[in-house]
Amino acid sequence: MKSAIYPGSFDPMTLGHLDIIKRASKMFDHLTVSVLDNKAKNALFSVEERVSILKEATKDLPNVSVDSFSGLLVDYAKQKDIHVSVRGLRAVTDFEYELQIAQTNRKLSDGSLDTVFLTTSLEYAYLSSSSVKEIAAFHGDISQLVPDFVVELVHEKYIDK
Ligand code: PNS
Repeated sequence: MKSAIYPGSFDPMTLGHLDIIKRASKMFDHLTVSVLDNKAKNALFSVEERVSILKEATKDLPNVSVDSFSGLLVDYAKQKDIHVSVRGLRAVTDFEYELQIAQTNRKLSDGSLDTVFLTTSLEYAYLSSSSVKEIAAFHGDISQLVPDFVVELVHEKYIDK
């Protein structure tokens, strides 16, 4: 069985992430979307909330499961016996950072963890979780950026702010 991990912060998951999840789920027998539990990062949503959003968004994709991890991706992948990490590339500006992570993971895993890059669909090439948060912080319209059920969840975080 060919399995892959799609790791990320997903704070919050965007339509760009969902597009990558749907496309990757067609390429692999099983895809684990995994939220990094990074205590150092000041996240808008808790890990539990991010996992719950991802579960709801992927409930109709039978070969996708959602999980969280802390520590190194290579250790998590080894523990799950998964050898492919999926990442989305929006633009050339993503490439340098992503290349560095991919090379580091290959080195740290002795070649056991490879990275497959999917180019983001053009309609989502501009989209990031950071821009969703910035727009929502100014009470702007994020309905084209995240699934419908996530719009309200994001706005709730900025009530009275
Ligand atoms: O959505 P993001 O924040 O761009 O995702 C980054 C992520 C989670 C894929 C990356 O930071 C990660 O895998 N972190 C876990 C720690 C790790 O393994 N670091 C080594 C690679 S430099």
